[in-house]
Amino acid sequence: MSDLPPTIAWHDGVIRIIDQRSLPNSLEFLDCSSVEELCHAIATLAVRGAPALGAAGAFGVALAAQIDGDPRAVRGEAGRIVNTRPTAVNLRWGVERALKAFEYGAADSCLATAVQICIDDVAANRSIGRYGADLIPVRAGGAQVLTHCNAGHLATVGFGTALGVVRVAHERGNVANVWIDETRPLLQGARLTAWECGQLGIPATVIVDSAAGVLMSAGKVDAVVVGADRIAANGDVANKIGTFSIAVLAHYHQIPFLVAAPVSTVDAATRTGADIEIEDRDETELAEFNGRQIVGAGVSLHNPAFDVTPAELITAIVTDLGAVTPQRLYEILI
Ligand code: MRU
Repeated sequence: MSDLPPTIAWHDGVIRIIDQRSLPNSLEFLDCSSVEELCHAIATLAVRGAPALGAAGAFGVALAAQIDGDPRAVRGEAGRIVNTRPTAVNLRWGVERALKAFEYGAADSCLATAVQICIDDVAANRSIGRYGADLIPVRAGGAQVLTHCNAGHLATVGFGTALGVVRVAHERGNVANVWIDETRPLLQGARLTAWECGQLGIPATVIVDSAAGVLMSAGKVDAVVVGADRIAANGDVANKIGTFSIAVLAHYHQIPFLVAAPVSTVDAATRTGADIEIEDRDETELAEFNGRQIVGAGVSLHNPAFDVTPAELITAIVTDLGAVTPQRLYEILI
């Protein structure tokens, strides 16, 4: 099984990211040498996925500190980075950690913190993978697992959260097939998760988002594993739009619904899912397909990027510290 280059890293004074906008057609790298370039990369989803955004936020502060070490300037740039995307709490978490290192140390400690976040992220994802794989029902010939969006290597610094669970289960011989929701409108499933599975030799099948129900009713889904952008203190989970619908379907069919995320995605300051700000994205993402207009004039468009799955629909939240029911999330918060 081959491994993939890190999604994000510090490289000779610039932030080097895999440019996810070019996948699956080509594997290209984008160097961000200013906070403005980084913010543009985040806003246009060149770099995306909650844990990868955490690392991007921390590197962004380190970059700002190297360009102009004036504390007011660094704080200003930090605020600008946090404001690029509101839902994934890891972005703010990474920015705040790096900012703290800068305030207690200097530009170098800020960069060291960002690098450490990257190292910790991969280690955390491997732990999540092991804890999560234990919860995938064992089937002769391997289980069929459904995932939504991309919570893989590309959404993290490396290895992935939900797809990390799939990777470990596959290494254990317990994955017959991964059903990948294409994930409208930006196709993170079809473009990114499918590419990763292909690179890693994991058997996978792309489906339209609306196919999940019929597959579940036919007994072709043994477990659902998704990532998270923010987990509220009561166990409600914000993730890519469409996650909630799959959770309802899984609940109806009594299929385990697992949320895989590092502890940094748990936001104790957010009491319930109702308190999570949901990003509204540009209407053109919905109105156009492949550069062509697909919605006629005379109607309005609504394009929320995330939804909230209530805790009661979630079988387990799988973190790097272990798997818990959403109702017992406090155990990993204390
Ligand atoms: O808009 P995106 O592509 O950043 O949304 C990503 C997701 O919703 C992921 O499932 C989530 O960030 C978890 S990534 C490990």
